Amino acid sequence: MEFVTVTTAPQDWTGDLLCVGFWQDEVALTGDVAALNDRLGNALQEFLDETEFKGKPGHAQVVRLGAGSPVKKLALVGLGKRNGSYLEPYRQAAAASAKAAKTHKARQLGLYVPPTDQPADALTAALTEGMLLALHQDNRFKSDPEDKPPVLERVEFLSISGGQAGIEQAQKVVSGVILARELVNAPASVVTPTTLAETALSLAQTYGFNVTILEREDCQRLGMGAFLGVAQGSDTPPKFIHLTYTPAVTPKKRLAIIGKGLTFDSGGLNLKTQGGIETMKMDMAGAAAVLGCFKVLGQLQPPVQVHGIIAATENMINGHALHPGDILTASNGKTIEVNNTDAEGRLTLADALVYAEKLDVDAIVDLATLTGACIVALGDDIAGLWSTSDDLANELLQASSATGEKIWRMPLEDKYFESMKSPIADMKNAGGRSAGSITGALFLKQFVQKTPWAHLDVAGPVWSEKGNTYSGPGATGFGVRLLVQWLLNQ
Ligand code: BES
Ligand code: MN
Ligand code: ZN
Repeated sequence: MEFVTVTTAPQDWTGDLLCVGFWQDEVALTGDVAALNDRLGNALQEFLDETEFKGKPGHAQVVRLGAGSPVKKLALVGLGKRNGSYLEPYRQAAAASAKAAKTHKARQLGLYVPPTDQPADALTAALTEGMLLALHQDNRFKSDPEDKPPVLERVEFLSISGGQAGIEQAQKVVSGVILARELVNAPASVVTPTTLAETALSLAQTYGFNVTILEREDCQRLGMGAFLGVAQGSDTPPKFIHLTYTPAVTPKKRLAIIGKGLTFDSGGLNLKTQGGIETMKMDMAGAAAVLGCFKVLGQLQPPVQVHGIIAATENMINGHALHPGDILTASNGKTIEVNNTDAEGRLTLADALVYAEKLDVDAIVDLATLTGACIVALGDDIAGLWSTSDDLANELLQASSATGEKIWRMPLEDKYFESMKSPIADMKNAGGRSAGSITGALFLKQFVQKTPWAHLDVAGPVWSEKGNTYSGPGATGFGVRLLVQWLLNQ
């Protein structure tokens, strides 16, 4: 599929599907849109009169035009409420346009959005991202996909000069998001810790990253008792993955990103009996975001050094599995009473955080499908953010508003750590029912000494049962664009 910008005005465009974007409650025929209406013999005005189209975000209404018309079909596409500083409306409108093109089997799509102050590259990047993300569908496991791939061949962004760099950047970013989606969607029998390690090795091969895979014995030597405790109940070997991207220039910053990499979370002996176990292949979505981010780093080559760290394992039950009540010693010497084997992510992250801090980086960000409690607090669309550094938190919030991947800062309320006090060890791994996502974050904090650190609980937004604006049902690839944006902003 080819993306181009053209200076052609909508009234001069010919092709299968012409999409015209409108801000919500500003559905008026002015300027080029008025000229288009004239060219179409008032068809646009009649269409508007007959429909309830208000320009709501993500809405598209399609009509077939008469034979002899320069465009076969016309789509009215909603941008939502006008808000000068955000690109998200363009992503959503582009996604709606792409879906319309798919439904209506269009080969050529022309997209016109109202004139804007946004730089051309930012605009075309958002439009391209929205389209490619919406069109991606994962048919790898279907013998005969009913949902046939789109026939779209060429997309033209109308009335725009420049913007080609934005298109190319978006194509690279989306390739990372799709890698993350595919890793998360694949069942736990397909994506194992070994598969994650192989993915890291193959990215390293393609883009020239440094890569180290630590085996169980290597982790033992490093004293990673918390991570290995989780891994001991699985017949599949754990892999501790360390990827490093080093830019050709002197790095402006040295950063670490950590992804929770549970390729399946059964809960262990605290088995998940209350539902939710069916989707626990997605418990490596943090790891997938890190790998997806590296795929983008390799292509964009920003001037920062980035370490990617994944302590990959399953949380399973065999004769060697953790007993509730077992005491583990993490690689910083701290002891943990495992009062709940289903609070396993934080055990794997504990050793990953200790390892990351030894790399002497300027900041550490972890992404983890850590708690169901975070979904209760923030729902399916918003990740929780905890940070020991206001600067780091604000950088991530800024990247969030640029990418439309929503995050919300939550408190690191030290007092709540009382619920994790253990009479026999330094701490328990699970607190009580209240503030479950905060106590999870506070547990992680015990494994970071002085490096600015942020934790993103992505349990909600990495997965969408029904699908949303620009992702089908299943994995969303959440976190890749956020991480990339944060790294590019350094
Ligand atoms: N992987 C789960 C969290 C999760 C739940 C992610 C639903 C995505 C969707 C995590 O390992 C877990 O089981 N957390 C427990 C923690 C509790 C035992 C303290 C939870 O949320 O119930
Ligand atoms: Mn769990
Ligand atoms: Zn888990």
